[in-house]
Amino acid sequence: MQLDDIQRAAQEQFARQSQRYGRGHILENVEDVSAALHRMQLPPAARVLDIATGAGHTGLHLASLGFQVTLADLAQAMLDRAAQTAADRGLKVQVCQHAAEELPYPDGSFDLITCRVAAHHFSSPQKFIAETSRVLAAGGYFLLIDGTVQDGDPEAEEWMHKVEKLRDPSHHHFLTPNQWSELCREHSLAVQDVILTPFKQPDLNWYFETANTSPENRRQVLELIDGAPDSARRLFKLGEDDGKIIWWWQRLTLIAGKAKAGASRTAGHLL
Ligand SMILES: C[S@@+](CC[C@H](N)C(=O)[O-])C[C@H]1O[C@@H](n2cnc3c(N)ncnc32)[C@H](O)[C@@H]1O
Repeated sequence: MQLDDIQRAAQEQFARQSQRYGRGHILENVEDVSAALHRMQLPPAARVLDIATGAGHTGLHLASLGFQVTLADLAQAMLDRAAQTAADRGLKVQVCQHAAEELPYPDGSFDLITCRVAAHHFSSPQKFIAETSRVLAAGGYFLLIDGTVQDGDPEAEEWMHKVEKLRDPSHHHFLTPNQWSELCREHSLAVQDVILTPFKQPDLNWYFETANTSPENRRQVLELIDGAPDSARRLFKLGEDDGKIIWWWQRLTLIAGKAKAGASRTAGHLL
């Protein structure tokens, strides 16, 4: 697998930190995925690809619903962890190591492609969306869930970008809802829903530990928090709770569809 610098950084980071993403991680709660599934009409044994599956929380939930799921990730240690959990839960899944930007499947292979809380690491969101559209079957769905910063707030966006880059240097970039929607449209995916949900980051120290942030970078993040501009304070509801530094992410859920031959998908809305 030929990787660029950004992909290699993510692969190394997540291989090192894989043990942090299993039981007890905040991503274990898949209510966001369940809510999104209610907005789709999938066949009973839908073929699903979960890109950047991590410890497999999303893909394994989908497998538990009876779908035929392939779990994919750059980091083998994450895939090993997900495969072990699948075995423990008696779930049958395929596992495949590859980058999100180059998918080793024929055109039209899947009815649903999911990617949750990972796309901000991708070196090329363009290639990721182009490849997603290619391997999605006509009538299939794309579900993207990721951190974002709402459109039209560049100061807060810049601040969050600096914080995330220091906390985890394998962080690449959050795209705004409009940027993701535009990419989907450019690659023949009709955007059905764009939903922003506040999501509590309950403890900065836990978050540092998850990424194994260096002491110097922790110091710089605390400085950024002290000097946060009003726009960031307001948007992310920066504060303290029980002596812990907390904030609220903006979590984007985007659902898009690939039109059936000869049909057009209805355009979506921002909720
Ligand atoms: C936070 S975890 C994903 C969480 C998971 N999707 C869930 O719902 O629990 C991020 C994952 O993205 C993977 N990743 C980062 N960049 C990638 C890329 N370019 N291609 C494929 N996987 C990537 C990492 O290896 C890591 O396992």
